[in-house]
Amino acid sequence: MSTPTMDDAARVLADPSAYADDERLHAALTHLRANNPVAWVDNPPYRPFWAITKHADIMAIERANDLFLSEPRPLLATAQADDVLKEQMAAGMGLRTLIHMDDPHHRKVRAIGADWFRPKAMRALKIRVDELAKRYVDRMRDVGPECDFVTEIAVNFPLYVIMSLLGLPEEDFPRMHMLTQEMFGGDDEEFQRGQTPEDMLAVLADFFNYFAQLTASRRANPTDDLASAIANGRIDGEPLSDMDTASYYVIVASAGHDTTKDAISGGLHALIENPGELERLGKDMSLMPTAVEEMIRWSTPVKEFMRTAAEDTEVRGVRIAKGESVYLAYVSGNRDEEVFDNPFRFDVARDPNKHVAFGYGVHFCLGAALARMEIASLFTELIPRLDSIELAGTPELTATTFVGGLKHLPIRYSIR
Ligand code: HEM
Repeated sequence: MSTPTMDDAARVLADPSAYADDERLHAALTHLRANNPVAWVDNPPYRPFWAITKHADIMAIERANDLFLSEPRPLLATAQADDVLKEQMAAGMGLRTLIHMDDPHHRKVRAIGADWFRPKAMRALKIRVDELAKRYVDRMRDVGPECDFVTEIAVNFPLYVIMSLLGLPEEDFPRMHMLTQEMFGGDDEEFQRGQTPEDMLAVLADFFNYFAQLTASRRANPTDDLASAIANGRIDGEPLSDMDTASYYVIVASAGHDTTKDAISGGLHALIENPGELERLGKDMSLMPTAVEEMIRWSTPVKEFMRTAAEDTEVRGVRIAKGESVYLAYVSGNRDEEVFDNPFRFDVARDPNKHVAFGYGVHFCLGAALARMEIASLFTELIPRLDSIELAGTPELTATTFVGGLKHLPIRYSIR
């Protein structure tokens, strides 16, 4: 194939520090959407890829899940980390979660946990979620009148929810907390265990050891929780392999935690920066469902996933060769001027709001209903009790190409 010229703006997508600078990131994405919506990016230590920045193209690629595959490169990682993953896959070791898989295997594995995310299960969990929301808003009152909303509240609440869904004991919270941060904040020095792929493997090994014990205990004594469903899940009559079992816990524990934390803290930040919208929501709490969607669009906690072309093909007239990867820029899709009126306006009543923050197609976020319920529950408890709120310092974003958002949100407030 002919070597495409690289647009300098596209380079930011393969630069973790750009994700910690909203203005820089959005300036580059706005430029790409207008001028180079299928842009070649070659920025070591990452292997090259095509950056897809238009909403319609992201959806079309996700819909064509037999042409654009998750394997072997489901997300942006350094070439070295890609190679480690490939070696592990070849050896039948290492992380192999839903996001790494393609149909038909993916569909069967997804079905094992799916019931636990359906409306019936959500209704059963709601009481617990509301109770936890109240606990964390009470905590906000107790630690006030100032706190770092991310580290005090937003990190802990979704982790407790996910642990409740899995059926894990509360005393395991600190261990899970550290592991999920090390896993998802991987590019950001504040959360790294170390710099090398081996350090990342050590984080994975800790996750696996913890969950191997859990599988053994739920197989011996099944209980009524998601952990038991996973431990006792079967595919074509066979139990899940140890690797698939452990990977399932890892995806649920990690995907369900930092993502929701980022949406909650990004949502509160947007409300503080747009006091008119906070007041509007406070006066009409029936806007909560659209407000929650807007918080998710606005913060877009999952920055990207990738797919690899199984055949030569084209996107928007640009030739994509078999084996080349496309980067789905959800952050960009969610600010696409062709889909959203005034996309840079935070509007708690935005409707329609067809954001792609949960992805699309067969990999559409399994926990979307849970995430929505959690965010709604927290803000339904918080907003009526809030007399005032403002920033008490400069918010800071995580430097990561994958799942990220605010890592610090210093606030000053008065709450009942
Ligand atoms: C606001 C919060 C969340 C956001 C923005 C989010 C976003 C995403 C995205 C973008 C994907 C990939 C979709 C695709 O490839 O098309 C995904 C997949 C997934 N999410 Fe979420 N997520 C959130 C919360 C949760 C929660 C609370 C859970 C609960 C455990 C969860 C579990 C999963 C799982 C298991 C997958 C893999 C699905 C598959 O590959 O079939 N997520 N999520």
